[in-house]
Amino acid sequence: MRLRTDFNDNWLFEGRDTVRLPHNAVDLPFSYFDEKSYQRRFSYQKTFAADPGWAGKEVSLRFDGAMANAMVSLNGVELITHADGYTPFEARLTGRLQPGDNTVTVEIDGSENSDIPPFGGVIDYLTYAGLYREAWLTVKAPVSIGLHKIETPDVLAAQKSVTVDVALDNPQGLALSGTLTATLRDAAGAALASTSATVTGDSLRLAMDGLSDIALWDLKTPALYHLELSLQTPQGDDATSTRFGFRHVAFTAEGFALNGKPLKLRGLNRHQSFPYVGYALGKAAQERDAEILKHELRLNTVRTSHYPQSSYFLDRCDEIGLLVFEEIPGWQHIGGAKWKAESVENVRRMIRRDWNHPSIFIWGVRINESQDDHDFYAETNRVARSLDATRPTGGVRYISESELLEDVYTMNDFILGNEEQGGNRPRTPLRPQQEVTGLDRVVPYMITEFGGHMYPTKSHDQEQRQAEHVLRHLEVLNAMYGDPQIAGAIGWCAFDYNTHKDFGSGDRLCHHGVMDMFREPKFAASVYASQGDPAEGVVLTPVTFWARGERNIGGVLPLIVLTNCDEIELTYGKFAPKRIATARARFPHLPYAPVIVDQTNFTKEELGHWGMTWEPATIKGFVDGKQVAQTQFVCDAVPTTLQVVPDADRIGANDAVRVMVRMLDQAGHKLPFYPEPVTITVSGNARLLGPSLVPLRAGSTGLWVQATGAGPIELRVHCDRLDATTIHLTAE
Ligand code: GAL
Repeated sequence: MRLRTDFNDNWLFEGRDTVRLPHNAVDLPFSYFDEKSYQRRFSYQKTFAADPGWAGKEVSLRFDGAMANAMVSLNGVELITHADGYTPFEARLTGRLQPGDNTVTVEIDGSENSDIPPFGGVIDYLTYAGLYREAWLTVKAPVSIGLHKIETPDVLAAQKSVTVDVALDNPQGLALSGTLTATLRDAAGAALASTSATVTGDSLRLAMDGLSDIALWDLKTPALYHLELSLQTPQGDDATSTRFGFRHVAFTAEGFALNGKPLKLRGLNRHQSFPYVGYALGKAAQERDAEILKHELRLNTVRTSHYPQSSYFLDRCDEIGLLVFEEIPGWQHIGGAKWKAESVENVRRMIRRDWNHPSIFIWGVRINESQDDHDFYAETNRVARSLDATRPTGGVRYISESELLEDVYTMNDFILGNEEQGGNRPRTPLRPQQEVTGLDRVVPYMITEFGGHMYPTKSHDQEQRQAEHVLRHLEVLNAMYGDPQIAGAIGWCAFDYNTHKDFGSGDRLCHHGVMDMFREPKFAASVYASQGDPAEGVVLTPVTFWARGERNIGGVLPLIVLTNCDEIELTYGKFAPKRIATARARFPHLPYAPVIVDQTNFTKEELGHWGMTWEPATIKGFVDGKQVAQTQFVCDAVPTTLQVVPDADRIGANDAVRVMVRMLDQAGHKLPFYPEPVTITVSGNARLLGPSLVPLRAGSTGLWVQATGAGPIELRVHCDRLDATTIHLTAE
């Protein structure tokens, strides 16, 4: 049987520090740093004892990701190189191991090598160097189960079937014989069907049909199954278990359909980066991001801009029902022949790693926002289709009239805001597809970015700016929902991200997220959240800090209330409550239009003016006439509670958990301009990722506590104004 062991501990980094993977080569401050600091070579070394029991077996090391240009050697002998920073690779140790101790060395190069994507031009994101994903040691029989692709050809029929194409790994070139068995199991492990085949060559196809009572993978009930493969050969046994789902995806000129039912795709782009530690956060943080996108932002889609992301992230998308647009690494620039060949390989690697994820519904096979290049993109499309005929291809462009070689015309439509640069076009949220494509027919069409640099917005920006940020997201979603020729829209972007000096606000940050880098929501997050069914969670977010003089001239009007309620009730000071309906006429197509409170809702006396006393307010939300939510604002906010909230109070072995710190007023709202720092102390078997003295930004900050062993952990957050808050976590 195959043995897979964690190979993450005790790496000697740069001949100096003992580290555990995932590892970030150079930790960065939150902002204002030199992004060249990690753009150099680094080495990792690990000594381990060869087990005499490995004799006659295949032994290999798998690295889930290394940025970049990795070279692996064993006892000084080079084994393998892998340039791509986003896909796994395996170094075969068989025949190279010596009895007793062996030393494996991984050299990486964080410099932006122009021979490999995404490098060669400028890129609007950072590619933090390091062995930033995990490593595994695998011991298996000389002939073993290799790549396998599971397909579900007739998902929409009553009787379903599964096929699996299996490649056998036979690096020693042995004569092949034996039996391969496939067993279909449900999520609880019950066997539903099974089939076997005799091994005659190094690839086999097994099929099971006539399957009844199969649940489909969809957004609400993402049913998952397991396909177990077991191989018996004269040289030994092997077994694998792979999770998959039964689901059907289709794009037509009429839009997207999941399992035959039309679905408007509502999504955001995700970069896989985090403050301080870059890419190097493990399972919990990766899973958490998927959960935030699905449950906090209530999205049905995410795009892994602009590269293949962590398998933990994709696994979680499978489990919770979040559709994924995955794409190859790159950003605007297309390099020379060697570079292009590597990019075509990137398509292969991405699809082979991820073809069994039901959440992935499209492959992005262009370099994000590059120019047309017929031969190159004909080839990326050909490769994608030959590997996986079950998913459409897309290729993200921002140029119009670009050659359509893909199944879906996927477009970054940054039209909203163009009028500010002197364009004479009236404010336009999205262009009609045929204006963009220049084609004489309607084609499958999806928006893959909007927003972003057209209107960068920090979580501590003035309320008025944030209200405009909110409006822009609302307007694009409304336009998308109203246009049957647009399958969906994926905004730029979910989370703020670190970037090069050539982009962003000069602080090495693109403040383009609807959440900040700690995944703390800005107001615009509620644009998305409020599109979710109130039965699954009521949203009531007034876009205000509730202050007389924060906006120009003063007051809080027009006040957008992002909500999935039917109406709200606003009470201001001593005045009688007023019911206000949603702005349906202005946003006819949104599933849930916001409420917009403006001057017309008030008398002169109620409106007040500069110089009059400021009053508290209460806003209630109603669904079907019943009150379902309420939020209150005080008129005299002072720091009242130092809130410390972990994502979970148990930390998986060696994993890290996010903790949010917020300074709240009497009514529980964050103090958006509270500038005082907090001190963070962690004790027990754990360490703090990031600095221990940090400012609050827009009333909050985040941190990650990483377990270094099992046991209780105490986290203390202290500020000068209030008592410290202490919480307790447990590391497993
Ligand atoms: C796009 C690009 C993204 C990001 C965004 C900012 O052009 O694809 O990666 O840079 O602009 O709005």
